[in-house]
Amino acid sequence: YEECVMPLNNTYSAKFTENVSLSPLTTLGAGGVAEVFASPSNAEELCGIIRSLKECPVYVIGGGSNILIPDGRIPGLVISSRKLTKIKWLNDYSAEIGAGYPLPLLVKNLRERNIGGLEFAVGIPGTLGGAVSGNAGAGGKGVCMFVDSVKAVDSSGDMITLKRGEFEYGYRKCDISGAIITSVAMSFPVGASWNEDEASNFAAKRKSQPLDSRNAGCTFKNPEGHSAGKLLDDCGCKGMFCGEAVVSDKHANFIINRGSASSSDIEELIELCAERVFERTGIRLEREIKPFMPCFSVK
Ligand code: EPU
Repeated sequence: YEECVMPLNNTYSAKFTENVSLSPLTTLGAGGVAEVFASPSNAEELCGIIRSLKECPVYVIGGGSNILIPDGRIPGLVISSRKLTKIKWLNDYSAEIGAGYPLPLLVKNLRERNIGGLEFAVGIPGTLGGAVSGNAGAGGKGVCMFVDSVKAVDSSGDMITLKRGEFEYGYRKCDISGAIITSVAMSFPVGASWNEDEASNFAAKRKSQPLDSRNAGCTFKNPEGHSAGKLLDDCGCKGMFCGEAVVSDKHANFIINRGSASSSDIEELIELCAERVFERTGIRLEREIKPFMPCFSVK
């Protein structure tokens, strides 16, 4: 890769890298090439990067565990949040945590500190920023329930803070948009200790998932009153494939990259599964895996 150091407003300097292949940054191992890529080490550096831009779409990638990045060249700047990993404990039950902090590491920390709350998140991959933006969870719970406030950088390169109540969230969704999350303040229930039985139950549920192969978690959300996995299974989707993208034999709501599947293979397979379920049941499955869209565009 061609690497260049660009001066930013004379105050900051950040490393931009051109033509960065994004597929290794995703758990599916698919997707194209970022025209320009940067991985800032702190929020101030990110502000400087955004202020230095003109007419540029800006994308964000966290752990890459729940997105489908299109093939080919992605015009614009892709920001990785992975270096935003600072964690600061405010008291025994609250912390401010960088958006790039790995969710599994946070879960491990809470377990070691005997703080309860995130037992349901055992086994969920990705970064905290990604987890908050999609309210990652299991069993009717999601990480957003413990979020006090979110700091983010907007399209002007300014820091903004969104307090609890200023954003909404629900089943696998959160409406924070148009700004890049840099850190999250979280509070866990005072006095609630880590419940190992509950954590083990959640871990056991994951045994039905094809975790040893490349995937992006559940492909579709569960429609109300139904299980997407069961619907897909009942409609005979297991084993369906496009190129090297295949529907898992273990859990029908997982698509696996069994070789060098392209994103268009995966995309086509998702569509085929959704059509099949619709034809046979009349139910329209809604995607859980997110499309790769700009967070905002700098004018
Ligand atoms: N089922 C089938 N065939 C399949 C898959 C599932 O018949 O191929 C049946 C199961 O036997 C079960 C029902 O469908 O009776 C539900 O399946 P499962 O228990 O595996 O849970 P799920 O609803 O498919 C949800 C979350 C998962 C989370 C698990 C465990 C969604 C869309 N999925 O899966 O989240 O890990 O519970 O807590 O909400 C994700 O978000 O990426 C994800 C994987």
